[in-house]
Amino acid sequence: MRKEFGLAVALGAALLATACGQQSETVMPKQSSLIGGDTTATAEATPAAPAAAPAETAAAPGNTTAAAAPAAAAPTDPTAKLIAELPAPYNMGNWKNGKVQFSKCLSCHTAVSGGANLTGPHLFGIFGRKSASVADFMYSDPMKAYNVVWDAAKIDHWIENPGKVLPGSKMIFVGIKDAQARRDVIAYLKVASSGGPN
Ligand code: HEC
Repeated sequence: MRKEFGLAVALGAALLATACGQQSETVMPKQSSLIGGDTTATAEATPAAPAAAPAETAAAPGNTTAAAAPAAAAPTDPTAKLIAELPAPYNMGNWKNGKVQFSKCLSCHTAVSGGANLTGPHLFGIFGRKSASVADFMYSDPMKAYNVVWDAAKIDHWIENPGKVLPGSKMIFVGIKDAQARRDVIAYLKVASSGGPN
């Protein structure tokens, strides 16, 4: 009974609100909370108003982003070509994602020619390089004993979970579990560590 009364009041309020035109905005939320059903309308209406303002203010910078986009896209074309020239599956690699993934390595590794050793050895020329062969880097004993020539498959295995591949290694890195992300970072590294763009 009370519910019905509440509904009637709410409906009355709604009718009033509609009749009142402008005032309806303030009356409507109350009405919907009374009924309890029309909450989505209220929920939508409330964030819509604040959202509109940032959208409008963002409109001007938005234009400049749009204008900059083609310019930014242009330099990725050579990298796309370099990626496409790699052996499969790395020719399917995504340069942009590879670069994003490599940002996880950057705190410890450089890949450019003449790049410094950081926490980890420099990775310039890593493909075809013997493990633990950077003369002025202090490798761990397990890495010294690893004795591989780094290629894509070995790096893929290594970066998936270094702690599991070589327990006691100095590379304290959780690993990249996603195979496609590893493919992308390896494709990126193949280009970046051989004198290509970084
Ligand atoms: C927290 C620092 C750190 C991060 C992050 C890190 N590494 Fe390392 N990395 C090292 C260290 C230290 C070594 C030497 C390991 C040892 O001696 O046990 C190493 C060794 C290596 C080696 C072997 C190098 C050689 O000369 O034999 C490769 C390849 C490598 N890292 C690739 C990567 C890649 C690719 C990433 C990102 C996906 C990465 N690392 C992230 C610290 C790091």
